Amino acid sequence: MTVHTTPTELLDPIERASRDEIAALQLKRLKATLQNVYENVPHYRKAFDAKGVHPDDLKTLADLGKFPFTTKKDLRDNYPFGLFAVPQSQVSRIHASSGTTGKPTVVGYTKNDIDNWATLVARSIRAAGGRAGDAMHISYGYGLFTGGLGAHYGAEKLGCTVIPMGGGQTEKQVQLIQDFKPRIIMVTPSYMQVILEEFARQGIDPRESSLKIGIFGGEPWTESMRRDIEAQAGIDAVDIYGLSEVMGPGVASECVESKDGPVIWEDHFYPEVINPETGEVVADGEEGELVFTSLTKEAFPVIRYRTRDLTRLMPPTSRAFRRIGKIVGRSDDMLIIRGVNVFPTQIEELVLKHGKLSSLYQMIVTRQGLLDEVEVLAELQPGAADMPSSEVADTARWLQQRIKTMVGISTRVSVQAPDSIERTSTGKAVRVIDKRPRAA
Ligand code: DLL
Repeated sequence: MTVHTTPTELLDPIERASRDEIAALQLKRLKATLQNVYENVPHYRKAFDAKGVHPDDLKTLADLGKFPFTTKKDLRDNYPFGLFAVPQSQVSRIHASSGTTGKPTVVGYTKNDIDNWATLVARSIRAAGGRAGDAMHISYGYGLFTGGLGAHYGAEKLGCTVIPMGGGQTEKQVQLIQDFKPRIIMVTPSYMQVILEEFARQGIDPRESSLKIGIFGGEPWTESMRRDIEAQAGIDAVDIYGLSEVMGPGVASECVESKDGPVIWEDHFYPEVINPETGEVVADGEEGELVFTSLTKEAFPVIRYRTRDLTRLMPPTSRAFRRIGKIVGRSDDMLIIRGVNVFPTQIEELVLKHGKLSSLYQMIVTRQGLLDEVEVLAELQPGAADMPSSEVADTARWLQQRIKTMVGISTRVSVQAPDSIERTSTGKAVRVIDKRPRAA
C-alpha cells in the first residue's frame, strides 16, 4: 500500500470550496427543493401544512429543523409512486429496497438524477484512488438493489472499464479477477471476505492479484475488518455509504488519503443528526440518528429522511465536506443479513399468513465463519398441537420458501410445539437474537 493524494485539478471545484460557499449553495438548493415538494408532492404539502410550516419559512439552514421528518412509513403509505415529484413519463429508472412488510420501498430517478448519481459515484471512486482507464470489477448485486447499477454508472462515468459481474458464483469471481485484471473491486465487505477465502481455496495469493483498491459498503463493517482485508488482499479498503431512499451508494464515501470516515457529498445532500427519541438536532460530533434532505433530486426528493442509522457528523479533512463516523447501529430493528436488509416484521407477516402458527417467532442470527446464518423458530398454535410430524415438516418448508421468495434470504426454519418459544417476564418473546460480533 502506498500513501496517496488526489491532485487538486482532478477534484470538482466544490470539493475544495470554503464552508461559506458550500452553505450558500445548500441554502439555495434547499429552498428550491422545499418549494418543489410543496408544489408537486401532496404528501409534503399536507405534512408541512399540518406542522404549520411553509417553504418560505426557511431563511437559514438551521430553519430546516422546523420541517417534518419523512420515514419509511411515509413511503409505505404512498406506495408505489405517491412521493414522486414528476409524472411517471419523466422517470427513467425505478429501484426498490426492503419495506418493513411485504411491500418494498420504491424510489425513482429522472435522467438528471441518474446523471448526478453517476457523478457522485465517480467522485467516490476517484476519492478511493480510482482513475479513468482503471478496470473495475463490480460484485454488488444488480437489479432493484441500488448497489450494482449505482456503482456501474459511476464507474462508467469516471471512464473505467466496467466488469459487471454482480453477486454470487464465487469461483468465477476469482477467475475473472485473475483473467481480466481489475485494479478496483466494489462489493460488500462480507462478500469480499468470501472472495478472499476462495482465493485461498484455489491456492492463489490475492496479494499477487491485480487488485489495488476495494470500495466496500452496503452493510456495517469494522476497522478490524478493514485491516484484515487490506493485509490479506494487499489493497487499500475504503468505505462507501448510501441508502436507496436518498439515492443509493455514493451519498458519502471515504478518501483513500485519510481513511477517516465517508465524506458526505454535501452539495447534493444536507445532513443532520438527531436524537432519535426527541427528534432534536444534536451538535456535530454527538452521536444520534442520521437524517438527510436531498438538494438536487427531481423524481424522488426527500425532506429530512430518517435513515435510522446511528452515527455522528465529523469536521472536514481531505475534502471541504463533513464526514460520518462508522455506523454504530440502528434506531429501528432492521438487520442486514448477507447484504440484504431484513425487518423482523417481514418474517412476522409470513408467519401469520400460515394460519396454524402462533404469532410468536424468533430469529437467531449467527455468523458461521464469514457468513451470516439465520435460524427461524416458529411455534404451532395451541389448537394445532397434534399436527402430524410430516405436516410440521411441510409447515417449516413452507415458511422457509416464503421467506426465501418474499424476503430474499435463506434460513433454517424449525416449527416447534405450542408455547415452546421462551417468553420474557412481560410475556413477549424476544424476536431477534443477534449473536454476530458488533461493529466497533
Ligand atoms: O445498501 C446502498 C449501497 C450499496 C451503499 C452499495 C453502499 C454500497 P439500501 O439497500 O437501501 O442501500 O440499504 C441502506 O444499508 O441505511 C445502512 O444501514 C446500510 N449501509 C449502507 N452502506 C453502509 C456502510 C444500500 N458503508 C442501508 N456502512 C443503510 C454501514 C451501511 N452501513
